[in-house]
Amino acid sequence: MKITSFDEYQKAYKRSVDSPEEFWADIAGNFQWRKPWIKTLEWNFTEPNVKWFIGGKLNITENCLDRHLDKLGDKPAIIWEPNDPSEDHRILTYKQLHEKVCQFANVLKNNGAKKGDRICIYMPMVPELAIAVLACARIGAVHSVVFGGFSAQSIADRIQDAQCNIVITADGGFRGTKEIPLKNVIDDALVQCPSVKKVIVLTRSRTPISMLKGRDLWWEDEIKKVETQGNTTCPAEEMDAEDMLFILYTSGSTGKPKGVVHTCGGYMVYAGYTFANVFQYNPGEVYFCTADIGWITGHSYIVYGPLSQGATTFMFEGIPTWPNPGRFWEIVEEYKVNILYTAPTAIRSLMSFGTDVLKDKDLSSLKKLGSVGEPINEEAWHWFDENVGHKNCPIVDTWWQTETGGIMISPIAGVTKTKPTFATLPLPGVQPVLVDEHGNEVEGNGVSGFLCIKFPWPGMLRTTYGDHERCRQTYFSAYKGKYFTGDGCLRDEDGYYRITGRVDDVLNVSGHRIGTAEVENAINMHASVVESAVVGYPHDIKGQGVYAFVVSPNKHGDEDLTRKDILVTVTRIIGAIAKPDKIQFVSGLPKTRSGKIMRRILRKIAEGDTSNLGDTSTLLDPAIVEEIKAGAL
Ligand code: WTA
Repeated sequence: MKITSFDEYQKAYKRSVDSPEEFWADIAGNFQWRKPWIKTLEWNFTEPNVKWFIGGKLNITENCLDRHLDKLGDKPAIIWEPNDPSEDHRILTYKQLHEKVCQFANVLKNNGAKKGDRICIYMPMVPELAIAVLACARIGAVHSVVFGGFSAQSIADRIQDAQCNIVITADGGFRGTKEIPLKNVIDDALVQCPSVKKVIVLTRSRTPISMLKGRDLWWEDEIKKVETQGNTTCPAEEMDAEDMLFILYTSGSTGKPKGVVHTCGGYMVYAGYTFANVFQYNPGEVYFCTADIGWITGHSYIVYGPLSQGATTFMFEGIPTWPNPGRFWEIVEEYKVNILYTAPTAIRSLMSFGTDVLKDKDLSSLKKLGSVGEPINEEAWHWFDENVGHKNCPIVDTWWQTETGGIMISPIAGVTKTKPTFATLPLPGVQPVLVDEHGNEVEGNGVSGFLCIKFPWPGMLRTTYGDHERCRQTYFSAYKGKYFTGDGCLRDEDGYYRITGRVDDVLNVSGHRIGTAEVENAINMHASVVESAVVGYPHDIKGQGVYAFVVSPNKHGDEDLTRKDILVTVTRIIGAIAKPDKIQFVSGLPKTRSGKIMRRILRKIAEGDTSNLGDTSTLLDPAIVEEIKAGAL
């Protein structure tokens, strides 16, 4: 399965395009199936309808756990570092993880969970989060993990959309100096969610919480019940390759976040294959992905990818800058981390503390570095290369999306020659194309366009939960017969790809996807707001910042108070991650005669580039532009 030279990469790539079915069938043969598939692929991008490994039966947890027990049973599967360095770390071997997953799977069954049920998980970054995810997969329940930073309203929307019947949470969680009241947030959310019958609560922070009789149960009590029943094993549910594995909500350019659906067989094969290749994982290596399991990066590259390959995956509960900005480097030194996979925003934030914190740290265990989530700027790339990798570690700049399930365009560590700011070349099985605004393919090198993919790959989304038409509209209607990524891209003279960022109304703030429409809707909920427009602007650390233009003639109190009120509103409706960095009050928005907001103009003003605003003659009220320009923050 592992490509070890550039020559092998080229051969694998060619075969994956010439005979994709044979190529992927061979890769899938490296996994454990209960029953082999009858047909490798069926697809069209019009409906769309994509099915991989049709008729194949499996359970992903047998691939992540059971099949490693003989050889790797006593090797660490998860190493966990708590937020507070003075608390003990934990190591779970494959045997222990297997046992804990089985136990908790039995807890779920005791509480009525069955195959196909949707279960919402809202937890801190503790091993029990991975255990909960795997326990759902074990019994064939569909997990929907919601990042611990989302608000009660966001959780309620997601629970209602998926009609979850169980929620798994914790009393609270720790991040730096903050304590996150997870269970209290869940209580607020559940006021709107009659479908939820049971809430299982892990003890973590000992935050005082209320436990509702008949609905809320302590994780630890439920485990004790299973132990007294002697239920320590749990046979894995047999799943069809195309049965749903999980839903993960992500923001788009319109409306509420949509539930991206991934299925068991193709996702497993793709997450495992890309993990093994991109990071060139070798047995015994310690692999540290700094993402949160609440995002796709955590799903594919903390849990499923690494565990399917028998890797040691490192989980960190805290943040890179607490209790000091050397925390990542202390972890690397202490645990002899070999592979570090992080985000440009984290790199930029650590850069701002200078290299002093790195001086006395031994980073010699590091062999490979990775970046994900947003375009990495040249300065951050070189800083990472020089100060962390000491110019000895290949950097894999991995481009992919929630919808793609796994890495799509990326160097293979040590195999592909890297180039700063370039995600370089497509992995085998990935057929990227650039198209112009008319939908015509832009061929050759030294060109740019909108990034599309023209052939299916096993890890791709199958639908958006409960609304297949939305999936078609969003991804398959812009360019006929192609999956549209929403990203702009250039292909240089060497055929190397560089992703330049979103071309739709999706912002990428600290590597988190945020829909401008979502933030506007939240701001507009505030009683003093008439309307608003949200755009992104370049931000030194976050990559993009959120800039809101707000029409609010009857400000309650003063402007400053209204500004704070708006921040509270956005935090309540979406979560703190979507809070605008800048709020400018304006008397109106630049609109065309048909009432459309000219975002192009607002974007330019937010970027501080007002030299050439383009044609404003079609505006209803051109004078408004002057006012907005004059008041720009
Ligand atoms: C952006 C995260 C440039 C891109 C895995 C994409 C990147 C969106 C890169 C998906 C990269 C991700 N270089 N841009 N290496 N990786 N992106 O769904 O705009 O949270 O469309 O998945 O992040 O974000 P998502």
